[in-house]
Amino acid sequence: MFGLLKQSIIGRAILSGALDFEAVDIRDYSLDKHKKCDDMPYGGGSGMVMTVQPIVSATRAIDPQNRMRKIYLSPRGRVFNNTIAKELAKEDGLLLLCGHYEGVDQRALDICGYEELSIGDYVLTGGELAAMVVIDAVSRFVDGVLGSDASSEEESFSDTLGGLLEYPHYTRPAEFEGHKVPDVLLSGHHAQIKKWRMEKAKKITEKMRGE
Ligand code: ADE
Repeated sequence: MFGLLKQSIIGRAILSGALDFEAVDIRDYSLDKHKKCDDMPYGGGSGMVMTVQPIVSATRAIDPQNRMRKIYLSPRGRVFNNTIAKELAKEDGLLLLCGHYEGVDQRALDICGYEELSIGDYVLTGGELAAMVVIDAVSRFVDGVLGSDASSEEESFSDTLGGLLEYPHYTRPAEFEGHKVPDVLLSGHHAQIKKWRMEKAKKITEKMRGE
């Protein structure tokens, strides 16, 4: 599943050495003779729970000096956004734990010091897609990942735009099937273009996110 990240911008960043990641199979750390990693929940209920031992062993093997920020992807967590992405990009390393089934034994989270992070108020069948979303969004803030032509400076949620959603973009041709690019963008008047973009950003934010 994680092979997807080796494509495109993230793939290039890995080749250039700006970032690296490794997918680890928790089953490799199970001491059970059948490499079992889940069991029935104490107290009853549906579904299976991931057991404590393989998670704790894998975490300790991956990060023996306990230096990485540990994140368990879960719908129960703090809701991920660009501010959190920027904050996580400053860390030397992230260890992302992907849950399955009904969840993981709480002791694994407590022993290893995992914080919980959700990518939104919906439930996925596993944490892998959520982890990939986090990796992608965080990587954009790691130095050397985005080229100067794809800067994260002036985009939705950026400081430059005052946390607003992004204004609309246009490129050639100046007219398509009668639909024209707004005149101001062709004017070469930078102050007016800036003003127009801020106004559009405010309007779009109000429309999409206004109460
Ligand atoms: N695992 C299942 N659903 C999730 C979500 N919304 N965010 C993060 N991890 C999850």
